Formats: sequence, C-alpha cells, structure tokens
Amino acid sequence: MVLHEVDPTRAVENPPTGSLGSRPGDPHVQDFLEGKTGLVLGVANKRSLAWGCAQSLSNAGMRLAFTYANERLKSGVEKLAAECKGSIVVALDVTKPEEIDSAFETVKTEFGHLDTMVHAIAYANREELQGDFFNTSKEGYMLAHEVSAYSLTACARRALPLMKGREGSIITLSYIGAERVVRNYNVMGIAKAALEASVRYLAADLGPRGIRVNAISAGPIRTLSASGVKDFNDMIDHIAETAPLRRNVTAEEVGDTCLFLSGEHSRGITGSIIYVDAGYNIMGI
Ligand SMILES: NC(=O)c1ccc[n+]([C@@H]2O[C@H](COP(=O)([O-])OP(=O)(O)OC[C@H]3O[C@@H](n4cnc5c(N)ncnc54)[C@H](O)[C@@H]3O)[C@@H](O)[C@H]2O)c1
Repeated sequence: MVLHEVDPTRAVENPPTGSLGSRPGDPHVQDFLEGKTGLVLGVANKRSLAWGCAQSLSNAGMRLAFTYANERLKSGVEKLAAECKGSIVVALDVTKPEEIDSAFETVKTEFGHLDTMVHAIAYANREELQGDFFNTSKEGYMLAHEVSAYSLTACARRALPLMKGREGSIITLSYIGAERVVRNYNVMGIAKAALEASVRYLAADLGPRGIRVNAISAGPIRTLSASGVKDFNDMIDHIAETAPLRRNVTAEEVGDTCLFLSGEHSRGITGSIIYVDAGYNIMGI
C-alpha cells in the first residue's frame, strides 16, 4: 500500500502531512480497531506524542481512556478527549499508587477490558537535563526512573487482568539517548535504558499470556517535555541534516506506528524497540 507518493522536488524539511491513522474516516483503517479499547497515558496537549497515538487509534475505531497527570492539565485533556468518540478521562499521577489503582478500576468499570495501553510519559528535573551528567542528584535520578521507567511496569501489572484473553498490546515511547550519549539528555537516557530493558522483561513475562510489549524509539519532536532538554532545537537541526530521510518525524508518524503495534498486523512482534526516527539510528560517521 502506498502511503505517500514521493516528490523528489519536495523540500526535505517538510515531512509528508496526513497519515494512515490520523485521517479521520480513512477507508484503509476505519473500523480496523472497532470494539477494542485502549488506555493512553501522557496527553498533555495537542503536541504530545500520546495525542498522535490517540488520534490514530481513535480514527481506527478504538474507544479510549485518557489520563491527566494533574489538575492543571485536566481541562485541556478533556477537550482533546472530546474529539475521540466514546472516550473517558481519568486522573493518573504515576507517583501515586492509589491513583494508578483507581484509574484502572475506572477503566474496568467503564470498558470491562483493555486491548492496548500506550505509555507516553516521562519526567526529569529541568536542571538535570543540561550540563554534566555526573551532577545528577539522587532525588532527581530516582524521580526520573520512577516516572519514566518504573511506571511502565506498575501500569502493565494493573493492565494484565483487563487484557486477559484479549491479545493485548502494550506500547511505550523511548529515545535513542537510551543507547547512545546524547548531550544534555543525561539522567533521562539512563531512565530510557531501564525502560527499554523493562520492555524486554515484560515481553518475556507477558508473552505466554498473549500480551505483547514493544517500544517506539522516536526521533526528536517539539513537545512540552522536549522543551526541557537544553539545546533541543540543535537536535532537531542535526536530524534534518543527517538522518537518511533528511527530515524530522511527526507525532502522526509515531501514532501510525502505535496503530500498527496495536493491531493484528504486528502480531508476531514483541520485546522490540521500533525506530520512528527517519532512519537516524543507522548512521555512523
Ligand atoms: N518529544 C520527543 O522528542 C520524544 C522523542 C522520543 C521519545 N519521547 C517520549 O515520548 C513520551 C511522551 O513525551 P512527549 O514528548 O509527548 O511530551 P509531553 O510533555 O507532551 O508528554 C509527557 C507526558 O508525561 C506526563 N507526566 C509527567 N509526569 C507524570 C506523572 N508523574 N504521572 C503521569 N504522567 C506524567 C505529562 O503530564 C505529559 O502528559 C515520553 O516518554 C518521552 O520521553 C519524546
């Protein structure tokens, strides 16, 4: 299936717009996930990668539960969720175990089951996303790991009973800073390494129960979280100059990979880190 025709005269900094799952009513994907339910953690605003994922899933017919991390974000998340048919919104700060429990209780009551969980959350103190990594405080290190890595396992455990017998799919978001040194990414790189290892251990645990666990390693995209990384714009420029596709990727492209990982076309894939980065990860010198 041809998704985008390649125009050789196209300016490389302009990625193809529109995408498979992000076009409402696209006949290719309409109803593809009808009757399925998903939990999307991590929408902060319309730039969030979680929102790109939610749009692709919702446009394919999946009913979604959204979470918001704090009261400040609540109304914005509610507004976006209203664009997705049949969705619900629940509070979920992953540093509060009782809130994780009650969010999953609500999903159980409202949906009865769960087919997909998208984990698109991360946090580190802004002052630790710059300068020397060796200055990372113990508190900052623990916080980054609690929110950005441990929360995947904490939520997967709660999702497990809701995915029983449903060939569930758990998807998280990572970055190449997990594997290589990326200037200023610092403690978040260590947390992403833990997250990617968690994907493999969870995939091994949950595979026999029919549940798949994968990560999307996305290229840099301007979002609220990304703005906390010092010199983030330099990363964006570097990718546009050096990635094989000579451009950056979009939240819609991440969303469509999430759609793929949620559906039966990816049924043979688990424990993988899938790159949506315009090919940047293959480059050496
Ligand atoms: N933007 C990028 O360049 C990029 C690249 C690769 C991977 N990622 C990853 O994508 C994911 C989503 O980030 P984004 O770039 O869309 O930014 P974002 O700011 O839109 O999303 C981050 C989300 O994490 C949530 N969050 C933070 N602390 C939380 C807590 N205690 N409990 C619950 N939720 C909490 C925030 O509320 C927010 O919704 C993150 O894991 C990020 O590391 C982003």
